[in-house]
Amino acid sequence: AFAAETTGELRQVETVAHRGASGYAPENTIAAFDKGVEMKADYIEIDVQRSKDGKLVIIHDTKVDRTTDGTGYVKDLSFDQIRSLDAGSWKGEQFNGEKIPTFEEVLDRYHGKIGILIELKSPELYPGIEKMVAQELKERNLDKPQNEKIILQSFNFDSMKISNSLLPKVPIGVLTSNRADTTEQALKEFASYADYFNPSYGIVTEELVNQVHANGMKIHSWTVRSHEAAEFLLNMNVDGIITDYPDFVDPRN
Ligand code: G3P
Ligand code: CA
Repeated sequence: AFAAETTGELRQVETVAHRGASGYAPENTIAAFDKGVEMKADYIEIDVQRSKDGKLVIIHDTKVDRTTDGTGYVKDLSFDQIRSLDAGSWKGEQFNGEKIPTFEEVLDRYHGKIGILIELKSPELYPGIEKMVAQELKERNLDKPQNEKIILQSFNFDSMKISNSLLPKVPIGVLTSNRADTTEQALKEFASYADYFNPSYGIVTEELVNQVHANGMKIHSWTVRSHEAAEFLLNMNVDGIITDYPDFVDPRN
């Protein structure tokens, strides 16, 4: 975290490397996560889905087509098929051979080193995925408050309610780009199980930030890909900024 000053007051702002430092390396790969560590982000953000044979893997789209040399839905491919794909070349030759990481691998490599903001991506496609994620966290003692920074988030609110009941001590975030989710009533409902309200920056206003804080939640907003967007969110007093370019946000870079 770094100190930011907006209205004469100093406060801490956290930087989240979105799918890793995905402006500089292929999203959701070890190369991008390592880059996030190198750029001193507070968290890496990862998208968790599941192979046909039940392995938790890190990829954003529900299909492998955009970010690998393969085709098809993640849920229809075996782990061996997924693991054989090249997830780096599309971003540049130097990333040749980057693989789709597993959830276990990312937890083992990064916990204790950098925070991990875990998004359950399209969990409605993966019945029971909340329990599997909870199990992996429990096995590593990452389900208890400690110095380790772990947050779970999703656009799927039911999935986050389930996760909150399975992992009562792990902070929960709700993701939205929908203004209908910013009413006082909606925020109250979120606050009954969530610790973070994480909106796209297009719907962020000073009033919304104040309302989220008044409901006892923090606000991490996404996805910053320009200096202008970074500056806008810093002025809005958000608690964290989710960005493809950690150096656009954190003056220490
Ligand atoms: O962390 C917020 C952000 O990741 C949500 O959108 O589509 O990049 O997963 P998306
Ligand atoms: Ca995400």
